[in-house]
Amino acid sequence: MAEGEGTNGEWTVRRVLEWTIDYLKQHGSDSPRLDGEILLAHARKCPRIQLYTQYDQPLSDEQRTHMRELVKRRANAEPVAYLVGHREFFSLDFLLTKDVLIPRPDTETLVMAALDVIKQHPQSRVLDLCTGSGCIAVSLAVNAPKAKLTAVELSPPAAEVAKKNVARHGVTERVDLLTGDLFAPVAAGSKFDVIVTNPPYITTEEMKQLDPDVRLHEPHLALEAGADGLDVIRRIVDQSRQFLTPGGSLLIELDPAQAQPVLESMKSAGYVDASALNDLAGNARVVQSKWPG
Ligand SMILES: C[S@@+](CC[C@H](N)C(=O)[O-])C[C@H]1O[C@@H](n2cnc3c(N)ncnc32)[C@H](O)[C@@H]1O
Repeated sequence: MAEGEGTNGEWTVRRVLEWTIDYLKQHGSDSPRLDGEILLAHARKCPRIQLYTQYDQPLSDEQRTHMRELVKRRANAEPVAYLVGHREFFSLDFLLTKDVLIPRPDTETLVMAALDVIKQHPQSRVLDLCTGSGCIAVSLAVNAPKAKLTAVELSPPAAEVAKKNVARHGVTERVDLLTGDLFAPVAAGSKFDVIVTNPPYITTEEMKQLDPDVRLHEPHLALEAGADGLDVIRRIVDQSRQFLTPGGSLLIELDPAQAQPVLESMKSAGYVDASALNDLAGNARVVQSKWPG
């Protein structure tokens, strides 16, 4: 933040915001105003709305230094959610670090679909594989107060973030958090009424074309799953059969182009009632099926 700094007048909220929006526009942000507002509110430790009621207030030296650092990192494609350390998902606030994927609005389709299934059996035992920040498990636990959840994550630092989010939302009693590879940490013989997952599903080729925000800053382990992006999903479809109760449901988030092949693989593996659900943009984002019983 060098140009114009310290010239005429003070660095008020208005001036810093205008400068930031302009700077981020030139440095590749798709949403410079929103980014600028969130970062400035974070640097001033105030709610975003207060920026507009305190438009003419000057920033302290400390706030300016903090803001300068945040803007520099944002201009380097670092996602705003990592810079401020949290993000809203399913109307709940989740703590985030660079060890976890930033929860996406698309994943709310998966949570809603799982809640629809759980509604029929409120005391469902639910397994969330690849839990990351814990956003799916926590959203389900908060919105299905009789359900019992198990959440599994391979990355220990990501599992630490999930643990904090589980505690933050007061559902520690009903969410059992395990660290390990898919079903490996789940006790043999365990049965679940619902298995839900947003696994890595990006292809090796697509990885190279992702926006720098994602490619350079989000964890690789959370994203890539081999040449066709199905390495993890294939294992989940195969192994879930041993862990579902008769009539239990498997719900998987995926790329719309993967829906058809995964529905086919579910049918070949013996699942029934396989169908795809669309996200808010009308793309097949979730596939679900039942284990016969
Ligand atoms: C696409 S992210 C989803 C995170 C979170 N559930 C969400 O929806 O935002 C996938 C997560 O799966 C984890 N993961 C990758 N391979 C795994 C495996 N074999 N077993 C368990 N977790 C795995 C990654 O570390 C990452 O946290």
